[in-house]
Formats: sequence, C-alpha cells, structure tokens
Amino acid sequence: MISSSHLSFDPATLPTQDSYKLMTGLIVPRPVALVSTVDPAGVRNLAPYSFFAGVGSNPPTVLFCPSLTRPPETPTPDHPDDRKDTLRNVEETGEFVINIVSETIANAANLSAATVPPSVDEFALAGLTPIPSEVVRAPRVAESPAQLECKLMQIVFTGQGTGAGVVVLGQIVRFHIRPDLVENFRVDPERLDAVGRMAGNTWSTTRDRFELIRPK
Ligand SMILES: Cc1cc2nc3c(=O)[nH]c(=O)nc-3n(C[C@H](O)[C@H](O)[C@H](O)COP(=O)(O)O)c2cc1C
Repeated sequence: MISSSHLSFDPATLPTQDSYKLMTGLIVPRPVALVSTVDPAGVRNLAPYSFFAGVGSNPPTVLFCPSLTRPPETPTPDHPDDRKDTLRNVEETGEFVINIVSETIANAANLSAATVPPSVDEFALAGLTPIPSEVVRAPRVAESPAQLECKLMQIVFTGQGTGAGVVVLGQIVRFHIRPDLVENFRVDPERLDAVGRMAGNTWSTTRDRFELIRPK
C-alpha cells in the first residue's frame, strides 16, 4: 500500500471561501466565457465566467456557472436578490452569448467583472463594441475572436446561500469565428490566443503547448 502525505480536508468542515480557494487553485487553467446578455428591456450586460465548459456536441451544449451572491440587506429594484445580473437576464430572456477571451481583450473582460448596477452598460465600461447576433437578442463582442450564440436549455441549482453553484446549460445555435482562425473547422490555437484563469488575479496564456499521440 502506498502511504499518502497529502493534506486532506473534509469540505463539510471548511468555510465556503476555503473550498472556493482550493477549487480555483486546483481546477486550472479555466477558460473564460465573457457572457453577454440583455434584460427584457434590452439593457446590455457583460461579465466573465470561468466556471465554463463544453458539455457535448450533439446538440452542441455549453455550461457556465454564475454562483449566488450575498443577498442584499435592503433589496432594491437593481439588486432584488442573490442572483447575478447575468443569471437574472438568462432566466428572463432564455438567451446568452459566450464570447471567447483572447489575450488582446483579457483586460477588458476583467474590467467587465466590476460589480455595477444592472443599468450600467458593461460594454462601455470595458471599452468593447456590441454587434448584433443572428439568432438571439444578446449582442456579441466584436473584438472577441469567436462568439457562440446560445439558447437556454436548463438551469440547475447545486446549493443554497452565498457561493452556491448555479449551472446554466445552453445550446449553441450559432458559431461565429474570425476567418483567419479556422480551416476545415479546425481552430488554430496560436491565432485564437485564448487565455485561462488561475486562482485569484492570475491568468494564463495558451502559448506553451505540447503534443501527445492518443493511443488506439
Ligand atoms: C476572470 C473572471 C472569472 C470569473 N468567473 C466567475 C464564475 O465562474 N462564476 C461567478 O459567479 N463569478 C465569476 N466571476 C465574477 C463575476 O464576473 C462578477 O461577479 C460579475 O460582477 C458578475 O456580473 P453580472 O452581475 O453582470 O453577471 C469571475 C470574474 C473574473 C474576473
């Protein structure tokens, strides 16, 4: 038997914040979905989400996770509950766009994470350009190398209270990719230059890569 010198933690005994630190430090690098939505009145919203993954390709399905926040002590029309603006917009409109984040727009994506009232246009805040989508009402980010228009499939709540997970599952209804990035549906990772998020304020590039031949 191999004895382990690993440190072990039972999450049931940990503050939520420590589980969060372990998860964001261990599950790395995470791709960043810059999610654009609109509210029912058409006000734009933009925010980065790194709990983001592809789920399946038939139909093409993605997920991202806007976790619950601390409920406001005094609810206002702007902040009525513990949902982030993105989640509220997705629940109310059933649509969103995932904009892929390259290094060129990493700083802008980060700026859009500021906690501001829903009435603030985070495209303007981040200095990014909204362009119309083909199928959904939420706009795309023009500067993003690729955008995925999505229709909401399902929302799964994995807990209650601050930090609880909310899994938003969406079906991709349109892919948009800068023409120089793709040939015969294969994406050039060098040109895409996607970034990832590590723990805290640390991000990573995708420039240091290696190949492994997959066994038959
Ligand atoms: C790179 C990056 C990744 C983030 N990933 C997540 C995430 O996966 N889930 C989450 O709830 N918040 C995440 N955040 C924080 C949200 O972006 C932030 O709470 C934002 O204000 C939410 O905006 P909204 O209320 O307009 O949706 C992330 C922030 C940054 C900078």
